[in-house]
Amino acid sequence: MAFSPTSSGPSACTATAYQLAPTAAGLGFRRELIPALQQSVPEAIGFFEVAPENWAGMGGRAGRDFRAFTERFPFVCHGLSLSLGGPGALDDILLQRTKGFMREHGMTLFTEHLSWCADHSHLYELLPIPMTEEAVRYTAERIIRAQDILGLRIGIENVSTYISPPGAEMTEPEFVRAVVEQADCLLHLDVNNIYVNSQNFGFDPYAYLAQLPLERTCYVHVAGHYVEDDGLLIDTHGSEVIDPVWQLLQAAYQCIGHPVITCLERDFNMPDLVTLSQEVAHIARLQQAALLRPPEQLATPRAKRQATAHTASQGQVA
Ligand SMILES: [Fe+2]
Repeated sequence: MAFSPTSSGPSACTATAYQLAPTAAGLGFRRELIPALQQSVPEAIGFFEVAPENWAGMGGRAGRDFRAFTERFPFVCHGLSLSLGGPGALDDILLQRTKGFMREHGMTLFTEHLSWCADHSHLYELLPIPMTEEAVRYTAERIIRAQDILGLRIGIENVSTYISPPGAEMTEPEFVRAVVEQADCLLHLDVNNIYVNSQNFGFDPYAYLAQLPLERTCYVHVAGHYVEDDGLLIDTHGSEVIDPVWQLLQAAYQCIGHPVITCLERDFNMPDLVTLSQEVAHIARLQQAALLRPPEQLATPRAKRQATAHTASQGQVA
């Protein structure tokens, strides 16, 4: 496991806080995986990701099982329903619950989607936000408020979309950059979402990647998707990661200049834990390769500077 325990705060945190290594590769924590994980957690898995909507306040046997894992392994909190760009009021109660949940289980990283999913009730879809200056200001203000309530900087994830809202005043990567810079938050990079959108809307995923504020990347997702008969790609998290997405992940590490903690998303069509851990191990291999790659081989001048600074701070051989 790629982490080391640190002491918890005096009274604020009832769980042991774990320091995630920058090279940690992880897996979405799902109830159906618990029996296999109780037998043995594969070495490749450096952390788990959970949604507060699914696990906060969980009692009974499932709650006890969950607690047994958060006491032994690092966890990352990934929200599903905050609706940061939505018209409804920001859900302060959910944010307070999330804050308590993270404190209870020693989590220090929270990310959410750059999308909306609720008006007066939940729509159960991650919908794209109109890419306008007004939407940038509106969404950034809500992110700032969420950060104030949670008491930490959060990561905002680029999403897969299937419609293009009318009236766009900027491109999608420009919109992502504008929001995270105005909110002064972090970027949660999902490389499968970039790939899915690039195929459905016909753009170069590498050019898109290069325009994102990668210097703010705190977390990465990689996943599989489904291809419909008409060629439309759907971000299902229900199949293995394909080679073009692995290559995009590798390019992302190169552009960033160093590896970032990365989670394999798998929500449907679940294979056994051994198969899942092989994909997590592949993430770890790409992270190691990015660590060992000399800065002069990296893709952009900015990535070179970042890599040089990172290797110096980590005591790595440049
Ligand atoms: Fe994702």
